[in-house]
Amino acid sequence: MGILACVIGWPVEHSRSPVIHRYWLDQYGIDGAYEKEAVKPEDLERFLSELAARGYAGANVTLPHKEAALRVARIADAAALAIGAANTLWLDAEGVLHASNTDAYGFLTNLDAEAPQWNDGLASAMVLGAGGAARAIVYALLAAAVPRIRLTNRTRAKAEVLARTFGPKVEVVDWQDRNEALSACGLLINTTSLGMTGQPPLDLDIAALPKNAVVADIVYTPLLTPLLVDAAKQGHPVVDGLGMLLHQAVPGFERWFGVRPDVTPALRAHVVATLGDG
Ligand code: ATR
Repeated sequence: MGILACVIGWPVEHSRSPVIHRYWLDQYGIDGAYEKEAVKPEDLERFLSELAARGYAGANVTLPHKEAALRVARIADAAALAIGAANTLWLDAEGVLHASNTDAYGFLTNLDAEAPQWNDGLASAMVLGAGGAARAIVYALLAAAVPRIRLTNRTRAKAEVLARTFGPKVEVVDWQDRNEALSACGLLINTTSLGMTGQPPLDLDIAALPKNAVVADIVYTPLLTPLLVDAAKQGHPVVDGLGMLLHQAVPGFERWFGVRPDVTPALRAHVVATLGDG
């Protein structure tokens, strides 16, 4: 039998990872498979201890298991430790479970691909939100040497916890001051769920944002969120959330199946075609 990997979640049905990894398995003609595993939180530790016995080389981890997976893994990389969550797991030759978080890598690689000029003379970036996704984005921006990050969240206390974790380059801005705080920001990233299909709209006025500022959203349903539509209309380069999803999958696939896969327009179109049907 070929090489096996899976995505572990609860629920797991909504995960797009199988669409991405199965596309690559097919494209590269690899003898392998990528499964969905619905695992309850109370069963995660046991499931991971049985990963090898179940025939898996590794796994992606999605909600609500990302923090627990990091705790269970014996070895974690710097990104997973700093973000406090794992999304990619693999077993080494000795059967030791390793954890990584590839969300920051995915975000930065996509930004480099879609808006190569994003970092030119960038003095300050604005991040909306303070959940798990925001942690990965803030980690990514600091890793890319962004000098200053303004962080704003409806619940200010959560932004302050994140700012304390990441140090003095991260400055908390009150949620009600978010519009004015966009001035002098060369990059804006929405990491909240606002603007997602079925969620409330993001109430943001980007008039104060410098004209050449790049606007990114991690939401990818819809592909062009109202924020991105508005930003594009005002002439900003925009980066959607799907690219991050595609790029974060690359390191795991390479680890399990031994081929570094390409993120191509054809892959993107293939995944976009599945976004409508739940
Ligand atoms: P994830 O881990 O995927 O980032 P999360 O932890 O649920 O998801 O975070 C969702 C983010 O969207 C949070 O920053 C949340 O703000 P709170 O910390 O105040 O909850 C933000 N969010 C969700 N609904 C919101 C709303 N109606 N108005 C403003 N922010 C909202």
